[in-house]
Amino acid sequence: MNITHEVDYGTPASRETATVSIEIDGIATTARKGDTILRAAREFGVDIPKLCATDSLKAFGSCRLCVVEVVGRNGYPASCTTLVEEGMKIRTQTPAVARLRRNVMELYISDHPLDCLTCSANGDCELQDMAGAVGLRDVRYGFAGENHLDADIDDSNPYFSFDPAKCIVCSRCVRACDEVQGTFALTIEGRGFDSKIAASAGEKFLDSECVSCGACIQACPTATLMEKSIIDHGQPEHSVLTTCAYCGVGCSFKADMKGDQVVRMTPYKDGGANQGHSCIKGRFAWGYASHKERVLDPMIRDNINDPWRKVSWDEAIGYAARRFKDIQKKYGRKSVGGITSSRCTNEEVFIVQKLVRAAFGNNNVDTCARVCHSPTGFGLNKTLGTSAGTQPFDSVMDADCIIVIGANPTQGHPVFASQMKQRLREGANLIVVDPRKIELVRTPHIKADYHLALKPGTNVPIINSLAHVIVKEGLTADDYIAERCDLESYEAWKKCVTRPEYSPESTAIIAGVSADDIRSAARMFANARNGAIYYGLGVTEHSQGSTMVMGMANLAMATGNIGRSGVGVNPLRGQNNVQGSCDMGSFPHELPGYRPVGDDEVRGKFEKHWGVTLDAEPGYRIPNMFDAAINDAYKGMYVQGEDIAQSDPNTKHVEQALGKLECLVVQDLFLNETSKFAHVFFPGTSFLEKDGTFINAERRINRVRPVMEPRTGKAEWLVTQELAQALGYNMNYDSEAQIMDEIAALTPTFQGVSFEFLDRVGSVQWPCNEKAPMGTPIMHVDNFVRGKGLFIETDYVPTEERTTRKFPLILTTGRTLAQYNVGAQTRRTPNVTWYKEDVLEIHPSDAELRGIHDGDRVSLASRKGDITLCAKITERIQPGVVYTTFHDPETGANVVTTEYSDWATSCPEYKVTAVQVAPAVHRSQWQRQFEERANSQGKILEPSESN
Ligand code: SF4
Ligand code: SF4
Ligand code: SF4
Ligand code: FES
Repeated sequence: MNITHEVDYGTPASRETATVSIEIDGIATTARKGDTILRAAREFGVDIPKLCATDSLKAFGSCRLCVVEVVGRNGYPASCTTLVEEGMKIRTQTPAVARLRRNVMELYISDHPLDCLTCSANGDCELQDMAGAVGLRDVRYGFAGENHLDADIDDSNPYFSFDPAKCIVCSRCVRACDEVQGTFALTIEGRGFDSKIAASAGEKFLDSECVSCGACIQACPTATLMEKSIIDHGQPEHSVLTTCAYCGVGCSFKADMKGDQVVRMTPYKDGGANQGHSCIKGRFAWGYASHKERVLDPMIRDNINDPWRKVSWDEAIGYAARRFKDIQKKYGRKSVGGITSSRCTNEEVFIVQKLVRAAFGNNNVDTCARVCHSPTGFGLNKTLGTSAGTQPFDSVMDADCIIVIGANPTQGHPVFASQMKQRLREGANLIVVDPRKIELVRTPHIKADYHLALKPGTNVPIINSLAHVIVKEGLTADDYIAERCDLESYEAWKKCVTRPEYSPESTAIIAGVSADDIRSAARMFANARNGAIYYGLGVTEHSQGSTMVMGMANLAMATGNIGRSGVGVNPLRGQNNVQGSCDMGSFPHELPGYRPVGDDEVRGKFEKHWGVTLDAEPGYRIPNMFDAAINDAYKGMYVQGEDIAQSDPNTKHVEQALGKLECLVVQDLFLNETSKFAHVFFPGTSFLEKDGTFINAERRINRVRPVMEPRTGKAEWLVTQELAQALGYNMNYDSEAQIMDEIAALTPTFQGVSFEFLDRVGSVQWPCNEKAPMGTPIMHVDNFVRGKGLFIETDYVPTEERTTRKFPLILTTGRTLAQYNVGAQTRRTPNVTWYKEDVLEIHPSDAELRGIHDGDRVSLASRKGDITLCAKITERIQPGVVYTTFHDPETGANVVTTEYSDWATSCPEYKVTAVQVAPAVHRSQWQRQFEERANSQGKILEPSESN
């Protein structure tokens, strides 16, 4: 799909629906009440010249290029700041306004380099366009006087440059940073002629508070702020609309192309999830797709100590199939399985789970959502009836009180965070429940009303305590509950949460937060017109992850906060397609659409369509796969796009299991920690080569479109299909679109979805079927999907992971803005400039006690193992708690995490590990092993060498 230039309407659209009658250049028309003249004229088809206005920002009225005449009024109002009124007669082209506009342009151009032909923005510069539009032919003032033409270029940011000589001080960049991104990193320093744009306190961009979201570059009408990729390669020739392959926000981008080379990723204004905004990862960190370490040839080896041999696709697929068949013959049908990836498209995931079920003949399929949001699926399904979040992202603009629990949106889900910050700046209340002082607690123009800085592992007492106050003080939404919820379960839940152990005073002791704050936060949430809950892995990755998800659903129902805009229970999904990989039937007990494999009718439908008999027994979950491998019952595995040896907890245990497999097939972009144990490597495709769909955290099905042919010579789904065929199962799709047609035919919530439909409407939020042909932005509007909303008792059971004298601190983990998951992609981009390696955050008092200084290398030890990394001393973290990320395989953060997991879903308890921290004397055993293995893994033989 090729996209032409998007229209800039000059100012944002008014939210009013009423219209007024106006006349533009003598022609009668109507315009939305509240719109500016500039916008109304553009919608009418008349372009008024403009420079300081753009439709993603509030009007500013500084350049005076957009002046018009209004009949009956004196002067020449700026059309970008003047609202339309009933009966208004507007003249956009008169000799007087033409003269004024030319004079304005003349002043701008007199202090601007006249190097248009060699400028990187040539052809995509609003200043150039406007000079043409106003008919400027000559500049009377000359260039001899004072000017800014010699100002120094700031090249510090690896992705963009700032050339102040070209700046017209329109402040679009400043406003983009304030209004769209919410970082407030830019200011206009000085006055009049001396005005200039400054990052933070006049620092280089790289040293400033800038988070490299790129909103300022997109807003800049000149070449002042410019992507280095455009400076290097020139302006794009065409664009393809696609979806970011990083986090669960699911931002839409135009891949701006020159031939088959990506030269820029531009966030798409009509993107349902991002509305033209992006973060550093989506906009800039796509270079990994052409990184030199990318593996492009299929490879095999008989033994994991052998070098890899590059072979043809036929040989690799045939080899994998033979080994799987031999294993099944020797150890039985259930001795093999597969893991699907939340980084792959729905179509790719769907056929891997189909391969396991139809070609392997068992249900040993699981997905990486097991280790992140499986409790979300379980908890929301039990209480509300659907394993997914309830709202579209822009619902947050109607929220009056927002609770953020166990999530760090500015780092993990930055584009949604920017939207949430807009609402917070408008005055919505904010309650943050997190052991760390995350950025949202205090950031420019935002201060959380309450920060419940709980001890890791005490989410459930906190949610119960909030409920305790709400029930005891009669703040429940009784009419809503009576009409929509299961009353028996409600009564039982009330009894549970009002028990004395959940009083704020008791909870304060367990969770380490003030009872008064719990009480006040509870009142604030219950009394809000619209209360919304947003949460992340700080909720799910606990031994009571599912309990906590149900606790939040209970709280939302009890306060009547589900079923309309501005409310809801909203998981912030980690990876781009976590929602989709779950929807596609990646769980061992569920077929696509979350339907039980044990249900004869459901299974029968799939059996008929797939022409095979399916196993009615649920298969292994990922942790069971590891245990079974260690016990010699599980011998072969197909891992699609996941580095389980880095991402899963208790690394030594995972490696022990992987080391016992007789056939491990890894399909990925790069050799990784898991492929160290693999026998077959299928090179994978990057999102730039994929055709398919991703589903984001708001259930939005977005198209992913290829901008180039697969660099490996074969689409990933085709590899899976050929493997299925080699195993003896006749899988025969012609295209990705056909796979989606089958998904739609077999999954009621996807019934109306097809590539053709998505290409026509843009994107759609499931359920999309006969009942909801244009999708379902908000779930549970009149009724809960399960019928009556079910309250579930959420008793607190402390984790078995306890601090002791030997391990007195609690380690909790998270992520950071510049890196993503195991870092396979982002570590291969200039994003390492901001975050080179995992560090350990530690409170000053804990550091002092241990003689640790900022930047020291420290040892982090738990019952499971020890690693070393550098310490960062910060008050962001509370005493007694330390924090790190898991982006770097060399750090090996998961060497120390434990096997404890959520009682319902086996989601690992990454967020609570008892540890000790001490100055490091030497590198840990893990890191020494890592280095040794790194040396052996890279050996790859060319076909000629292996003959
Ligand atoms: S850098 Fe660009 S957007 Fe910012 S003031 Fe200068 S010209 Fe305007
Ligand atoms: S890149 Fe983003 S954060 Fe940085 S100055 Fe521009 S708008 Fe602000
Ligand atoms: S917010 Fe997420 S989806 Fe959007 S650009 Fe950033 S990483 Fe990509
Ligand atoms: S565009 Fe209206 S004053 Fe600049």
